Amino acid sequence: MYIDLRSDTVTMPTAEMRKAMAEAIVGDDVYGDDPTVAELETLAAKMAGKEAAIFVPSGTMGNQLAVMTHTRRGDEVILEENSHIVVHEVGAASVISGVSLRTIKGINGIMRPEDVEAAIREEDIHHPETTLVCMENALSNGRVVPLETMRAIYNVAKKNNLAVHLDGARLFNAAAKLNVEAEEITAYTDSVMFCLSKGLCAPVGSILAGSKSFIDRAKKNRKLLGGGMRQSGILAAAGLIALKEMTKRLHIDHDNAKYMADRLSEIPGVKVDMDAVDINMVFFRLENEKISDCMLVKGLYDKGIKVNSASKGEWRFVTNNDVTKEDIDYTIACMREIIGA
Ligand SMILES: Cc1ncc(COP(=O)(O)O)c(C=O)c1O
Repeated sequence: MYIDLRSDTVTMPTAEMRKAMAEAIVGDDVYGDDPTVAELETLAAKMAGKEAAIFVPSGTMGNQLAVMTHTRRGDEVILEENSHIVVHEVGAASVISGVSLRTIKGINGIMRPEDVEAAIREEDIHHPETTLVCMENALSNGRVVPLETMRAIYNVAKKNNLAVHLDGARLFNAAAKLNVEAEEITAYTDSVMFCLSKGLCAPVGSILAGSKSFIDRAKKNRKLLGGGMRQSGILAAAGLIALKEMTKRLHIDHDNAKYMADRLSEIPGVKVDMDAVDINMVFFRLENEKISDCMLVKGLYDKGIKVNSASKGEWRFVTNNDVTKEDIDYTIACMREIIGA
């Protein structure tokens, strides 16, 4: 077994999840027959503080379904330039929804409400119509957006009749960091996507939540995208445990990330971005340029540790349910050996 620090997407379903999946009562969900999916969607809507929710195969599909359901072709969407929808969803918003993305440069990925306001198009025969703002929380740079910022952006959007979607792939990490219920975050959104996979350990699946009429329309759009699933209660059974049990333990991953950040920063030549340690991610740089990406990735791999190579010189190690404090101590010892510190 490798220690896998590449992401929280690598988490394995727990033994309880595997048992629940084996025993799940299922039905054809396209007919609306699957009681386990229905139970998951009801619980997910409640936890998100929304009227309704829909189970989707991935976070990407949840985000794209939101964009598709909120907008019409030709509309413009405002969002941060490094957000997942912009950078990591293959340009799907333009392909699927025919919208243009108006990106804003945030401060450490956090949009300023005044920049969102300035990016809204005025009524003009030449302009696309701005109809949607997308936020992200937690950010994939490991930071959590303060509630006051979300509230201010939501207020700007509402003043201008725009819908607000939240990419909350790691919504419960953000909630744990802010020490609030998830619904206190989603109060500043019309729709939210959150992942049951990632830190919550379900093998597959995400949720899109919003008003009943929004989710009714999203259900049809999900079918259009080929995302209507049949006996998906097998997967929803794991999702229920993700929501009921695994949301409660994310603070452990966060504590472990802080522990890892502290231990890494004790290594000479390792510069940890301590301000970015809000959730389960640790970002750092190596001062010695002679240590190549390959040297560290292969060196750690040979010692049973998987990490991704650096992105523009920045390394990211991620804690998760399958990474213990002992694993972190072992990783630190291996790092010291490889970089000669
Ligand atoms: C912020 C964010 N949004 C959306 C997604 C998409 O989730 P999925 O990989 O399930 O499509 C990810 C995945 O890493 C993510 O980090």
